[in-house]
Amino acid sequence: MHVLSVVSEIYPLIKTGGLADVAGALPKALASQGVTVLSLVPGYPQVLAQLPYRQEIGRLEAVLGHTAIVSRAKTEGLDLLVLEVPALFDRAGGPYVDEDASDYPDNWLRFAVLSLAGARIGLGELQHLKIDLVHVHDWQAALLPVYLRHRYASTLPVVCTIHNLAFQGQFAFDIAPRLDLPSSALDVDCLEYYGGIGFLKGGLTCSDIVTTVSPTYSREILSPELGMGLDGVLQTRRSALYGIVNGIDSEVWNPAVDPYLPMTYDVRSLARRQQNRAALLRRFCLVDHRGPLFAALTRLTWQKGADMLPAAAEEVVAHGGCLVICGQGDRAIESALQNCAERYREHIGLHVGYSEDLAHLIVAGSDILVQPSRFEPCGLTQLYAMRYGAIPLVSRTGGLSETIIDANEAAMAREVATGFQFHPVEPHSFREAVRRACEAYSDRSSWSGLQRQAMKADFSWERSAAQYAQLFEAVWGAWHQSTGGSARASVDLP
Ligand code: ADP
Ligand code: GLC
Repeated sequence: MHVLSVVSEIYPLIKTGGLADVAGALPKALASQGVTVLSLVPGYPQVLAQLPYRQEIGRLEAVLGHTAIVSRAKTEGLDLLVLEVPALFDRAGGPYVDEDASDYPDNWLRFAVLSLAGARIGLGELQHLKIDLVHVHDWQAALLPVYLRHRYASTLPVVCTIHNLAFQGQFAFDIAPRLDLPSSALDVDCLEYYGGIGFLKGGLTCSDIVTTVSPTYSREILSPELGMGLDGVLQTRRSALYGIVNGIDSEVWNPAVDPYLPMTYDVRSLARRQQNRAALLRRFCLVDHRGPLFAALTRLTWQKGADMLPAAAEEVVAHGGCLVICGQGDRAIESALQNCAERYREHIGLHVGYSEDLAHLIVAGSDILVQPSRFEPCGLTQLYAMRYGAIPLVSRTGGLSETIIDANEAAMAREVATGFQFHPVEPHSFREAVRRACEAYSDRSSWSGLQRQAMKADFSWERSAAQYAQLFEAVWGAWHQSTGGSARASVDLP
């Protein structure tokens, strides 16, 4: 089966978060399930710079007023189609924001072009590419099935994956005439959303199957609390909604061979991990007061509960611990953390920014990785942390609740615990969990047992990739049987 994956970021070429990790790892995992994936990504400068040997395979004319060059390249196990539209993608900032961190005002056009180009490629406009099914990720690609259904009357199977419902691609209705879609696509049963246009809403209504990145989150988004205004739409797609938990790329995230680490190690040589811990403390000029070394590696936003880090920091300091924070985001949170780091110079270290090498050193050197998210579709850092023997301390929500086994008495006795969970998500219970972790850390032999259990937890992509493959096959099979009719299928995932 040949799948076209359409996505706005992909590791290792361009990354702002977990979406890129998933887009980069899933195709490799699907290959062993007999599914070949071509990934269509925008030709941002960061992407083009890393793919000097790409080959032009065709041009798409008149894509919402633009000509797009499509080139193909292979790298790191990925088969890529790069969409080159310099006027839209060749910009100095990131994939979504300019150098001042403001959204590009024409994001609607940039990602409508990506979606329309993807639809046309899916329909065979670049003749030698055979596509059986399209997999679209998040709002940036969500217009693709809308183009297929409404502009081309095509039933080509589409699976839409929601990585984070908080980002929906909502725009003023006045962009509608410029989308080149018939009026059937613009009404309330498709794109219209409270008087505006919602890209993700359109994608959810026009795809055959909707998935999200953990079973728990797939249930949570059906409620008004976490449905972010789309719970009603999702309720109507309930029978087509599946949750498949993310995996991790165990080649990129492997402490035994990780090139970013001062010292590599595995579960049998845990003592060597100390050298990474010492390097992490040195990097932030912190003093080891013999308490645990906590870390946060995250976007500094309300979703991630980063505003609660100063409260937790006080608890950490009170227990003679240290805390290193690496992230960027909300300016007010950044400055609160800056104040905190200045106040407790020996204990708290802050790196505002994105740093791949520091990310690896953090999971390899810290004792406890905190993730106090208010909601979390899946979360990947807790999975990386476990593989590296850093114990996750997480709020009980979304993917965090199902990937971490709380170190309560029963789980400790049965030797199955892998981390700490807290609930409700507020500073008091977060601090309480920090206290609990500090106490557990002081019993060093049971702590190393906990580390070994976490390191052995299996979050490779194998099982989840098999679930995606099963869904793809079912949808494609239903479509094929109805000879191009409906591709709606129902599947019992293992
Ligand atoms: P989200 O996608 O919501 O931000 P995830 O946990 O799914 O959350 O993925 C976050 C990814 O981004 C992980 O790969 C993590 O290591 C990485 N990351 C987050 N912040 C930084 C940072 N400041 N520097 C480097 N990597 C980061
Ligand atoms: C989103 C979510 C995160 C998830 C990631 C990859 O960014 O916030 O929870 O792990 O996508 O699916």
